[in-house]
Amino acid sequence: MSQDFVQYLYIASILLFALSLKWMSGVSTSRRGNWSAILGIVIAILATLFAFQIQRIDLLVLAIVAGSVVGAPIGLKVSMTAVPQRTAVSHAFGSLAVALVGVSEFLQRGQSIDSVTVAVLSAEMILGFLTFIGSCIAFAKLQGLISGRPTVYRGHNIVSLSILAAAIATAAFLVLYPSMEILLFLMIGFALIFGFLLVMGIGGADMPTVIAILNSYAGLSAAALGFILDNRLLIVAGALDGSSGLILAMIMSQAMNRSFLNVLFGGVGAKKTDVEYKGGQERTAQTYAIEDVATVLSSAKSVIIVPGYGMAVAQAQHVVKELSDVLLERGCNVKFAIHPVAGRMPGHMNVLLAEANVPYDQLWEMERINSLFRETDVAVVVGANDVTNPAARTRPNSPLYGMPILDVDKAKSIVFIKRSFGPGFAGVENDLFYLPNTMMVLGDAKNVLTELIASLRSMK
Ligand code: TAP
Repeated sequence: MSQDFVQYLYIASILLFALSLKWMSGVSTSRRGNWSAILGIVIAILATLFAFQIQRIDLLVLAIVAGSVVGAPIGLKVSMTAVPQRTAVSHAFGSLAVALVGVSEFLQRGQSIDSVTVAVLSAEMILGFLTFIGSCIAFAKLQGLISGRPTVYRGHNIVSLSILAAAIATAAFLVLYPSMEILLFLMIGFALIFGFLLVMGIGGADMPTVIAILNSYAGLSAAALGFILDNRLLIVAGALDGSSGLILAMIMSQAMNRSFLNVLFGGVGAKKTDVEYKGGQERTAQTYAIEDVATVLSSAKSVIIVPGYGMAVAQAQHVVKELSDVLLERGCNVKFAIHPVAGRMPGHMNVLLAEANVPYDQLWEMERINSLFRETDVAVVVGANDVTNPAARTRPNSPLYGMPILDVDKAKSIVFIKRSFGPGFAGVENDLFYLPNTMMVLGDAKNVLTELIASLRSMK
């Protein structure tokens, strides 16, 4: 295959990757985005294989078969709620591969290596190895193999940043003395320790943001390797990966009203003092029987369902869809309000509701739906908490202050389905529980909704 043709194929791949990112940003086009990325990567792999005279095709086939045998069942069987940790595993392997290619390039080039190449390779290896270990820790935290609580101690950030500085300083010496291989392994060691300390110091619930940031590091690492290997596809694909991961992490941080630095070095969740939950004993909230809620819903003309993390925990997405269907059958207008950081990963609610076949046109993003709460009869909050909490508007001392929220409090009636009066991720008590127009229904979301649907169906 001519090199020109390979470059055309690379351009086709790059276009498909760019289109894929565009399509994946919309719910209705996201499947197309996935297929476009798959096609792009297949073309990229085939073009790269044909561009070089492969000596040991048998080893290559063996690696592809082994990877597919391990990867395909994981991809097919993993549950939606386990997607964050599955993504962390992919990043771990991807970044390890990139980092090891960097090591091999460094060792192979030997004495003939120039300073610029060493500098770029060093940056690539530091990013690659810290992403590898960080992604492994993120996986372990999300999978519950280790505690999700941040492991921080006095001076934690100073120690970890000093180790990062040591990795960079070692890289600088490696540029000056590339024949001292010991420096290479020291630098890798420092990068691994920094990645370990960094992610151990971050709480389990912040792992999705961390994974997006690590994704961006892996992309930058791949782009750096592209320069070394003179592979334009790797440069562009790495840059796309790096920038999209960074943008996603920024969107997530903004939607939580947190800064990057706070996510990475804040140690949020390490101490009980992070929460301002006082137990709710001073005020009284009204708990209601399911039949009472069914009566209110049976006469509602408009309902907005607000799903949150609790819906994911209860795996209640299918009963939520059923509730929507029952209400629609009764002539009620039903919409779903989607907060950008509801749940624990980007698009968490979209993915679960898509799995339950909720039509895309029923899903309304926060900016579009907020003005509609005022004219809505009932807002049904299913396992959401922080994303509805008015403390974000009213309490400057609250960790939620400044976070955009769904204006659930503006609805004529509010139904809250959750197991207790306990707080959500931010540990902040929710004033909504105590409003006179709030009906608290305590219980697991799936069980409550199943009974609610039965009760509604029994009504004429
Ligand atoms: P949360 O504020 O975490 O509240 C979830 C609520 O679900 C809890 O109060 C819990 O109350 C309830 N719950 C748990 N299991 C339940 C079950 N089986 N049945 C019924 N209810 C159940 O969730 P949210 O409103 O979705 O907000 C998300 C939070 O996570 C935000 O603070 C956000 O900043 C943070 N966060 C999000 C992301 C992304 S990308 N989505 C990433 C990192 C952090 P009970 O225990 O009383 O049942």
